[in-house]
Amino acid sequence: MSHRPYVIDEMISAKAIAARIEGLAREISTEFADTDKLVVVGLLRGSFVFIADLVRELDLPVEVDFLEASSYGNGMESTREVRILKDLRGQIEGRDVLVVEDIVDTGHTLAHVTKYLASRKPARLKTIALLDKPARREVDFKASWTGFEIPDEFVVGYGIDFAQRNRNLPYIGKVRFTDSPA
Ligand code: IMP
Repeated sequence: MSHRPYVIDEMISAKAIAARIEGLAREISTEFADTDKLVVVGLLRGSFVFIADLVRELDLPVEVDFLEASSYGNGMESTREVRILKDLRGQIEGRDVLVVEDIVDTGHTLAHVTKYLASRKPARLKTIALLDKPARREVDFKASWTGFEIPDEFVVGYGIDFAQRNRNLPYIGKVRFTDSPA
């Protein structure tokens, strides 16, 4: 847990996020137009705001489930070793699945989670990440849909935390420490 003082500079406004989600939802609704039921899987906890807004824009029959994978703990660095902390409640074999993530950073989390879910033989397995930091990638992973590509900055808001704080900001902001030069 960091006790260093910081401020948050807005990077992506709530309005820009809403507009982008509308566009993404249209593409996803087209891709899955023939599905009898799409299982939308949110990765806890960072995706909870994104998934809530996204599913309300989808013009499809959807079921919502959640999965929790270990991530940063309380720091700013990825642990790289990904573990499943909470599994899905429902079955996905033969179903169409969309995994919803907040950020693809090193890529370890989504690479691991998609491999894990693919072993259950879904009919289609797609991924969406609100944010992508390509400069930080350590494993070759690209989400099927991405909201915004961002530079290598630590961000918070719209569900995303820094040591469990700032998830409730309606926009995406960048953390700037005030005890050292920017
Ligand atoms: P990856 O496994 O390195 O791709 O990490 C993905 C996870 O790291 C995300 O789901 C977030 O929980 C966390 N993460 C990555 N970048 C940030 C950030 O800038 N702020 C807060 N959490 C982040």
